[in-house]
Amino acid sequence: MSFPYTIIQAPMAGGFTPPALVQAVSDAGALGSFGFAYTTPQEIVVQSKLIKGQFNINLFIHKDVDVDKAKVAATKAALAPHYAKFNATLPEELPPKISLSHQFEAVLEVKPTVFSSTFGAPSKEMIKACQKRNIMVSGTATTLDEALYLQDIGVDSIVLQGLEAGGHRGTFLTPLGVHDIGLFALLSLCHGKIKTPLIAAGGIMNGQGIKAALTLGASAAMLGTAFLTTYEAGTPAAHKEMLLTSQRETILTPAYTGRHARGIRNKMGDELQALINQAPCFDAMNALTRPLRGESAKQGNPEFMSLWAGQAYRACRVMGVGELIATLKEEMK
Ligand SMILES: Cc1cc2nc3c(=O)[nH]c(=O)nc-3n(C[C@H](O)[C@H](O)[C@H](O)COP(=O)(O)O)c2cc1C
Repeated sequence: MSFPYTIIQAPMAGGFTPPALVQAVSDAGALGSFGFAYTTPQEIVVQSKLIKGQFNINLFIHKDVDVDKAKVAATKAALAPHYAKFNATLPEELPPKISLSHQFEAVLEVKPTVFSSTFGAPSKEMIKACQKRNIMVSGTATTLDEALYLQDIGVDSIVLQGLEAGGHRGTFLTPLGVHDIGLFALLSLCHGKIKTPLIAAGGIMNGQGIKAALTLGASAAMLGTAFLTTYEAGTPAAHKEMLLTSQRETILTPAYTGRHARGIRNKMGDELQALINQAPCFDAMNALTRPLRGESAKQGNPEFMSLWAGQAYRACRVMGVGELIATLKEEMK
């Protein structure tokens, strides 16, 4: 079994994957992906209908956890001075959650080529509903056990996310931060044991990297960070600038959102490190820090944004998507 596209632009929720990016990837013969985890069902339909050709829609699938009110109060008190510095408004109440089942109904309505998920496995009902409509289903695994689990429930492909990857970890069977395996080790563990097509993700920035992943048994490669500095990406200017000029290391930390994610180290990561143990669950922590991160981006200040980036971000290139994909293909020869 194989996957019909060799190069995949990773889904990246938070405004990074506007329709122009997804369309340009599709036009170049690769698979473009919408990161729609924070997007309303109505908007999912509107943006998806703009795409001509193949595309992927990605959502977060995670268990509802009770919000710990004491943790929310403690976090708000700790964040207040940072909000004051940026003249931003600390949310009084947590915003209502966007319903996953409504988002999923929108997915079924627009029938993307692929439906992918992270943070958890899709239910068997979700898989069946997609496959009935010829939508391929993809899950994200960060360990061999997670890949075996996804294979058992019948997904059509599995994204193997190595610890090099930018953004949030997709880990769902083990505690986060415990089994952080690099991409090549993960591919070697899964090769032979997993018959479902494997998609390699994490730290791949050029055609040589794609070729290496294919040699190790992947059917396709998924690149996220490499697309963040393309003209079509929705990456905020201060984030793009850091990707292209910073010499800092990346850190994998739950400090920004309450869930482990990798980004370029900045003051926010350092200063919120002390909050990790009192941080509420992902949805709540993400909502509590979002307006601060947004205001920092608006002011062009990279220090209080979430600068999601993979370990290899310093290999980012500035070009249009068409040129990037043509270059990747050339480098694979
Ligand atoms: C800015 C950003 C946002 C991301 N958002 C998502 C997301 O919404 N869903 C998802 O499955 N993965 C998300 N990821 C992870 C990517 O799908 C992929 O695993 C990662 O980008 C691969 O590593 P690389 O960035 O080194 O190429 C995100 C990554 C980045 C950099």
